[in-house]
Amino acid sequence: LDNGVATTPPMGWNTWNSFGCGISEQLIRTAADNLVSSGMKDAGYDTVIVDDCWFDPQRDAQGNIHGDPVRFPSGMKALGDYIHSKGLKFGIYEVPTDLTCAQRLGNYPGATGSQGHEQQDADSFAAWGVDYLKYDWCSQVGTLDEQVAAFSTMRDALHNTGRPIVYSINPNSYHADKTGATYDWSAVANMWRTTEDITATWDKHKTANSWSMGVMDIVHINGRLGRQAGPGHWNDPDMMEVGVGTSMGETEYRSHFSLWAQMASPLVAGNVLTTMTSTVKGILTNHDVIAVDQDSLGRQARIVADSDTELVTVRELANGDRSVSLTNTGESAATVSTTVAELGIAGAPSYTVKNLWTGASSSTTGAISASLAPHETAMYRITPGGTISTTQAPPANATYEI
Ligand code: DGJ
Repeated sequence: LDNGVATTPPMGWNTWNSFGCGISEQLIRTAADNLVSSGMKDAGYDTVIVDDCWFDPQRDAQGNIHGDPVRFPSGMKALGDYIHSKGLKFGIYEVPTDLTCAQRLGNYPGATGSQGHEQQDADSFAAWGVDYLKYDWCSQVGTLDEQVAAFSTMRDALHNTGRPIVYSINPNSYHADKTGATYDWSAVANMWRTTEDITATWDKHKTANSWSMGVMDIVHINGRLGRQAGPGHWNDPDMMEVGVGTSMGETEYRSHFSLWAQMASPLVAGNVLTTMTSTVKGILTNHDVIAVDQDSLGRQARIVADSDTELVTVRELANGDRSVSLTNTGESAATVSTTVAELGIAGAPSYTVKNLWTGASSSTTGAISASLAPHETAMYRITPGGTISTTQAPPANATYEI
């Protein structure tokens, strides 16, 4: 969406993965404080996103929506002011239908979707200082045309407010047709969910785009949609589960983060910031990996090799470098290898290879290989170390499958 925002993938923190409906203004203020004190804000995580369940179950007599009076007693404008006072941006959640997902599931009272209130709600959000809207389908019914119309109505309502607001949509919630992955939403939104909800697991081996996916299930869908991605419009493989749950460990968290960066994904953390370990913080704030994610060219990686035992991806960067990921997707230790020719970057006499997790640099004339534990990813930034003839342009970004 060409609305002047999200020229690089948005970064932030969202309440949902760790807190669900159990949120309050105090919890969100504390999260804002922790983003600053932990160094996450300095690393780029600049948006605090309040997901489902923030609202008063009743609209007022004029149909206006408000924050829940018990858990958000100071009101949403005051919350936005607090977030802004920390140098952060304010994100909020709504739906294009009648019920939010929590309401549809019976986990929250009321029926406060934006359907029929789109401009009124957009105006409220703008008045509160909202900088980012997550807009979630939450219905089993609706044709693609109806979805496009409903998501476009809010896009236009946000535009009418005159406030720059990142527009993040999820066409998939509870919907049988996973249109997030099958339709090109780049003229509608700044980012769109391509799969069902992530869970804090490595790989559930889901063969279809079904409810509740692991990290690798999502990579196998989102990783093939690169041709839709670019400045202002990004595939969204969902919020991160780095530091969430007990099913994954630091090896899987590094792979998750590496692959989200390779896919030019929005980086929205979902972990509990008050108990974040230094290991998790180190992963989430790895500047070299974040620099890949935020690269101004905005090209998503393409998949070079994908099997039961390995995944190799390569991404073209603005300065002509390439970032590469080698993942051991199997269950035993293995060496994963590629070559500059396979990556489509042959032509220089030698290359500098910087390991973005260890910081070590080495040199190669062609082979790139890593010994990896199960589920481990090596991520590199590759720079031509010799002279490439000026007539040899970098290859176009290959062909993407969809
Ligand atoms: C479904 C979305 O995919 C989740 O990220 C979250 O927003 C929930 N809905 C909230 O109900």
